[in-house]
Amino acid sequence: MATPEWDKLLSAANKARFNAYAPYSEFLVGASVQTVGGEIFSGCNVENASYGLTICAERTALVKMVSEIAFPVLAAVCVVLKGGHMKGGSPCGACRQFIWEFCRGNEDVPVLMTDPDDTGRRYSTIGQLLPEAFVL
Ligand code: THU
Repeated sequence: MATPEWDKLLSAANKARFNAYAPYSEFLVGASVQTVGGEIFSGCNVENASYGLTICAERTALVKMVSEIAFPVLAAVCVVLKGGHMKGGSPCGACRQFIWEFCRGNEDVPVLMTDPDDTGRRYSTIGQLLPEAFVL
């Protein structure tokens, strides 16, 4: 897969966002990831009455990916959310580290962040979002 399929990633993330289980924050997030093999997986945030158990949309998508294919390698990530400080927001710190795990050392894996209306679209890379990532 040469180029990320941003249109497909965006529609998958937007679709997943509609399933967000966020009765506590009412902050709906959708995410999608594409592997170097071209497969796309999506996810939404899943909250819990015990707040700390909440799972972000990005990690939902990644866990789905890992459980479905052998040795997944990320080619692209897409996140759709209504930003707080900026339109489209950006992935939380925990999710950045979780994304990094499956970039397999490639700091150039692109990350698209946007809002549901796609008016605040921004492209970054995992290396820019998580400089000096923790590596074991
Ligand atoms: N959330 C995500 O799904 N992804 C992020 O990167 C940031 C935060 C979710 C978690 C929680 O359900 C809601 O947004 C508010 O924090």
